[in-house]
Order: sequence, then C-alpha cells, then structure tokens
Amino acid sequence: MRGMKTALRKPPVLKGRLVTLRALDPGADAAEWHAEMRDPDLWRWTDDRQPLSVADTRKQLQAWADNPDLVVWAIVDNASNRMVGTVRVQPRKDGDRVIIADQTNQIARSVWRKGHHKEACQLVFDWAFKTAEAEEIRTKAWAPNDNAWRSMEALGFKRLREAHYMNESVGVPMPMRMYVLTKKAWMEEKKATYKR
Ligand SMILES: CC(C)(COP(=O)(O)OP(=O)(O)OC[C@H]1O[C@@H](n2cnc3c(N)ncnc32)[C@H](O)[C@@H]1OP(=O)(O)O)[C@@H](O)C(=O)NCCC(=O)NCCS
Repeated sequence: MRGMKTALRKPPVLKGRLVTLRALDPGADAAEWHAEMRDPDLWRWTDDRQPLSVADTRKQLQAWADNPDLVVWAIVDNASNRMVGTVRVQPRKDGDRVIIADQTNQIARSVWRKGHHKEACQLVFDWAFKTAEAEEIRTKAWAPNDNAWRSMEALGFKRLREAHYMNESVGVPMPMRMYVLTKKAWMEEKKATYKR
C-alpha cells in the first residue's frame, strides 16, 4: 500500500476478552512459537514453508514483520500470556478504495475452536474497517482445508468463486476458494449479534 504504508504498517495493540494482538517480536517469540508449530499438519494447507528450527522460525517471523506489504500481529492468550497465533493482512489501494487484499491466520492447535481465533478476527476486522478504512477484506483457502473455509464462512465471509490452482506445497492442482467480507456485511453482522 505505497504512500499509505507508513501510517498503517505499524500494528496497534488490539485488546479483547480472550486475546490481545500485538506486534511480533521475532527474537523473543521464536522459541515458543516454533515449539507450538512443530506439527507439519499445521502447515499443510498454507502457502508458507514450515521452519525446521528456532532460527528458521525467527527468520520467518522477521521476514513477515519486515514485509512492507503486510501488517502482522502475534495473538496472545490473555489468561496464560502465551503466543497462540499470528495474523497477517495485506492492505492495498484499489483505485480510490482501500481493501485488505489477503488475510492469513495461524492458531495453536491447543486453542482451536475455543474462541481465540474468532475474537482475533473480530479485532482485526474492526481495525480494518474503522482504522484502515478498508471497504472489504479478501481471503482464500484450499478446499481441503476444512477448518479454514468453515471458519471464514462462520465469521461472515462470502464465497466468491472456486478455481483450480497449482498447490506448490502439495505438488498437484486443487480447488481454491476465494472469499470476501464487505464493510457493509460486517456492520450488519455486528448489529445482528448485539440484538441477539
Ligand atoms: C484455520 C484456523 C485459523 C481456524 O481456527 P479455529 O480456532 O480452528 O476455528 P474458529 O474458532 O475460527 O472456528 C469458527 C467457527 O467455524 C466453524 N468451524 C471451524 N472449523 C470447523 C470444522 N473443522 N468443522 C466444522 N465447523 C468448523 C465453526 O462454526 C466454528 O465455531 P464453533 O467452534 O463455535 O462451532 C486454524 O484451524 C489453523 O490455524 N489452521 C492451521 C493453519 C491454516 O491452515 N491457516 C489458514 C490458512 S488459509
């Protein structure tokens, strides 16, 4: 997001009930995060290469933090102060509009479906639509990554289309699902949640 980059690149602290999102600290986070993410299944359906050592994990976290196209947070569990996830978003100008061109999340298996991911996403969506003034958030998932696309749909993302792409990690083409969440849909979803 050239030009607007400086203002929005720095990830602000986002505080929730279960989790707090803060900037990555690659040197301090690497050992704990590497131990959490040792299982190859956690990397199977992502386009990231699995780091095989703590030093590799530190390099990967540093590369994400240094990438001028990304805003990256660590997700910290409030109760234990443990790092339980990462969120990467890609804000970009699309003509006159700001959009989040991609969002990639990782959550420690020990807290899958316990509300940490859901709350982290809600904090990021509020940041994207209010602070970054984005009109929409786009994301994608390989069709066999059930957890990812089901979670996106549960959060309000609408499926735009599905198309076959080469999955470089697996070595065969497979269906990829593209999603969008518009600001309007998110505001309506929030209104409905508060009324319930
Ligand atoms: C994808 C990922 C971030 C999802 O996080 P999660 O904590 O497992 O899931 P969520 O809490 O967001 O799920 C929200 C809702 O989605 C639905 N859902 C998620 N996974 C589901 C599954 N396997 N089956 C049915 N419904 C599911 C449920 O409605 C769930 O709400 P509930 O738990 O209250 O029933 C996590 O599984 C992960 O880190 N996977 C490895 C990395 C990865 O593949 N990242 C995505 C790259 S595109």
